[in-house]
Amino acid sequence: MTTRPDTQPLTAWVEQVRAGIENGRFPARAFKDQGVHDLEQERLFSKAWCFLAHESEIPSPGDYVTRYIGNNNLIVARDENGDIHANLNVCRHRGNVMCKAEMGNASHFRCSYHGWTYKNSGELVGVPYMKEGYEGRLKRKDWSLVRVRVDAYEGLVFGCLDPEAPSLEEYLGGFQFYLDLYLKHGLGGVEVHGPPDHWIADTDWKICAENFAGDGYHTPVAHQWGFNLGYFPSSGSTHSQGWAVSIPDKGHGIGLGHSPDFPAFGGFPDELAAEMRQALSPEQAEVFARTRTAVGTVFPNLSFLMQPFSLVPGEPGVRFVTMRLYHPVGPGRMEMYSWCLVPRDASAEYKTEAYRAYTLAFGQAGTFEQDDFENWTKVTQAAGMTMVRDIDFPYIMGMESEPDPAFPGPGHAVVPYVNDTNFRNLWARWADYLTGEA
Ligand code: FES
Ligand SMILES: [Fe+2]
Repeated sequence: MTTRPDTQPLTAWVEQVRAGIENGRFPARAFKDQGVHDLEQERLFSKAWCFLAHESEIPSPGDYVTRYIGNNNLIVARDENGDIHANLNVCRHRGNVMCKAEMGNASHFRCSYHGWTYKNSGELVGVPYMKEGYEGRLKRKDWSLVRVRVDAYEGLVFGCLDPEAPSLEEYLGGFQFYLDLYLKHGLGGVEVHGPPDHWIADTDWKICAENFAGDGYHTPVAHQWGFNLGYFPSSGSTHSQGWAVSIPDKGHGIGLGHSPDFPAFGGFPDELAAEMRQALSPEQAEVFARTRTAVGTVFPNLSFLMQPFSLVPGEPGVRFVTMRLYHPVGPGRMEMYSWCLVPRDASAEYKTEAYRAYTLAFGQAGTFEQDDFENWTKVTQAAGMTMVRDIDFPYIMGMESEPDPAFPGPGHAVVPYVNDTNFRNLWARWADYLTGEA
């Protein structure tokens, strides 16, 4: 049991939690606690590289979306030169929220309060009563929107609020190998199939991050209907075959489930599968060929899932990819963003099929999504109960697992796929940030 008397500083509690993780324990309280939520805002989301948008959401000059890092609202926009910028969506004059729309196209943003106007790249260009009011004392260049660092990997645009943080490349730390399994679908890569579904849920973001870091344990139970009714082109008994791969000290993790009878690159049209073999390295192609389901989390709150889903029960499935972001909005409460990614070069028919499969399984009313959120919401609810919050949960599967020396990818790959190794790595990184070690 990890106790946190109210008199104990939260940072000391986090140190205690960190020691517990090494012994395979993690406390319920982390999933619903105002203090933990506040500390995450202050020490985690202010330091980590966080996902903002996929480049295909803003393909043309002037396109923008508004997104969050922690509780900070940002405008992510493509300027007239094609460069992507992220600026705080807050006017420098008196702090009004500038852009109220979620997405659109604009060369400039004009504040609705006193009319200060900024280019989509963030520079202040228009100030009402500039001469008469400010009498030469206001220098426009000093009052641009607050800029946030951005960097991208294969179309994924990330932002970081900490100017001193290491590069995105270093932050990903080799997980790019696995991201490619979701992103290099054909030589043209992937694009979003429309805007994200998003909705508020009384679920802690970390429960989702953990589940998507490779929880193959719940699949045959929570989603049992999918096996029973033939929506999975595989038997549930094979779910535990494959690897759990984590990137030590980075927090990222992926579950690679495979079924011996699932064809290499199955679920994709032949011509796309041929292009994917070209786009991936031989090591990646080997991992991909053996993978039926890939479910992974980029620390802290971005996840991906690729799996086949049969639109007609019993028939071979179509493989779809979903990307999801868990935006924390309070203790035990989050806003979910969920996208369907499709190969840019695929036929319109395949894109539509993949989107249908995604929508039925993982759209906001998707069957899998409902299974998961029913459980996650109850876990969150229980975590706030006075008798539950100081209970620890066991994360002791695979405590003695040795990495598979034959596995061709980077990181720490253990067998079987059903394993707590990835979760211990995820929570250790979380504790690093909350204790200020990261
Ligand atoms: S708050 Fe934006 S112009 Fe005054
Ligand atoms: Fe699930």
